[in-house]
Amino acid sequence: MIRPLVTVLWIAVLGGCGSTPPKAADPVAGAGEGSAPAGQPASPAPIEPSTPVEPVPAEPAAPVEPAAATEPAKPAEPAKPAEPATPARHPPPAKPDPVRAKADLLAAETRAWDAAKPVLQKYCANCHTKGARGATKKKLDHFDMSSYPVTGHHAATIGATMRDVMGLSGKKPTMPFGKPGAVEGDDLAAVKAWIVAWEAAGKAGAH
Ligand code: HEC
Repeated sequence: MIRPLVTVLWIAVLGGCGSTPPKAADPVAGAGEGSAPAGQPASPAPIEPSTPVEPVPAEPAAPVEPAAATEPAKPAEPAKPAEPATPARHPPPAKPDPVRAKADLLAAETRAWDAAKPVLQKYCANCHTKGARGATKKKLDHFDMSSYPVTGHHAATIGATMRDVMGLSGKKPTMPFGKPGAVEGDDLAAVKAWIVAWEAAGKAGAH
């Protein structure tokens, strides 16, 4: 590797310093550059014309897609045809004698009270009848069963109030005071039957 190169250099040097002046047209050899083989004028490497920059054709702007045509407004839905008014509930079958019906409901209520009274006398009267040992104004103000209809500030809603205190409405029973839930079985059923009869009469406007 070295030897040929040296030879080439020598030849180049000789050529460069020799009698023969380097051809003007051989600038490379004259310059003593060893790249050209001796004797052979190194032709100047043709300068490659720089590749003309091809004009990059400007990409045509992507045509703007026409905005999606606005959807034509949907025609307003035609208003639903008004539902036919719910037919009024069938009125309760006309009673031949409403006064008589109320009287019957009140009579049924009184019978139910008479059946429940012994239970209430046993479990409640001591605190909820006038003159009883455990009675106080406050207790009587809540519920007074001294006479019938019962009185007290729950009188107007005694049905719902009784359901609550007796544990018939889903709530925990609170009466009899101190022994909540003591009224059970048939006793409780009798009290409930009175509540139901009282509510039925009240609903019919008998109170
Ligand atoms: C030992 C006494 C006593 C007995 C027995 C008793 N109660 Fe009461 N009762 C009370 C007291 C005290 C109150 C007031 C409680 C309060 O203010 O929280 C009351 C309140 C009430 C109320 C009103 C409740 C309310 O939430 O405001 C009702 C209704 C009632 N009693 C019904 C009864 C019934 C029905 C019985 C029998 C099953 C009964 N009581 C037995 C003492 C008693």
